[in-house]
Amino acid sequence: MGRRSDAAVGRSREEPNAFARDLFDGLPARYDALEELLSFGQNHRWRSAMVGAVAEARPRSVLDVAPGTAGVALMLARRTDAEITGVDLTEQMLRRGGARVAHAGERRIRLAVARAEQLPFPDATFDALTFTYLLRYVSDPAATLRELARVVRPGGTVASLEFGVPPGPVWLPAWRLYTRVVLPGAGYLTGGREWARVGRFLGPSIEEHYRRYPIQQHVEMWSDAGIEDVRTRSMSLGGGLVMRGRRRRD
Ligand SMILES: C[S@@+](CC[C@H](N)C(=O)[O-])C[C@H]1O[C@@H](n2cnc3c(N)ncnc32)[C@H](O)[C@@H]1O
Repeated sequence: MGRRSDAAVGRSREEPNAFARDLFDGLPARYDALEELLSFGQNHRWRSAMVGAVAEARPRSVLDVAPGTAGVALMLARRTDAEITGVDLTEQMLRRGGARVAHAGERRIRLAVARAEQLPFPDATFDALTFTYLLRYVSDPAATLRELARVVRPGGTVASLEFGVPPGPVWLPAWRLYTRVVLPGAGYLTGGREWARVGRFLGPSIEEHYRRYPIQQHVEMWSDAGIEDVRTRSMSLGGGLVMRGRRRRD
């Protein structure tokens, strides 16, 4: 993972998801605690805002794409009565997620290996869909969004969470300092070399993502995928971005 550049994210010809698989295979053991560190302790708030957007529509079924260690799926289970399906590329992350689900005694969550780019479900299967920290790892975000929207029933809610880049002359330099210096150091101290690498990777990966796909382009990609009423909410001075919309009734 360390030798590959951000430009390689998900773009290998032989295996389009090789970068993400390599990156996440080694992370599950300490992922949950360290995720809070990487988000400056804000991840829980951001997740809660995204899950709230879904919960208010009272869905009976939710697909959580890229659930990793199932933090979002567990929050969805606590805040809705829905049956929740989680699909993720990385078996190791799901194994850890499965253990957390079992520990919580939660019977409404099912987890399975699948790619966001090719979901193993018929059209309009779910009342709602969530995805978190996913689009930086796919080679074609617009096509992936079309595939995500495909499995949501017309009128159903789609909501997402992604890191953001704080704007302005004060917060941007502060964010850069945090992501370039503090994160790698704190990652190393708490999670060893693997997490120092994640710390180094994260800031440049986020900035590169928004250089290629500014927020307005995200909104357009959602709209082109058949999602309407798209709203964005920047949180924590821009460090987190929650998006929500509704699957268009054609
Ligand atoms: C940063 S983790 C986020 C996990 C979880 N959503 C959370 O908020 O804790 C990103 C997850 O995306 C998954 N992932 C990356 N590319 C994927 C793809 N193309 N299809 C499905 N899952 C993918 C990884 O395996 C990993 O579990």
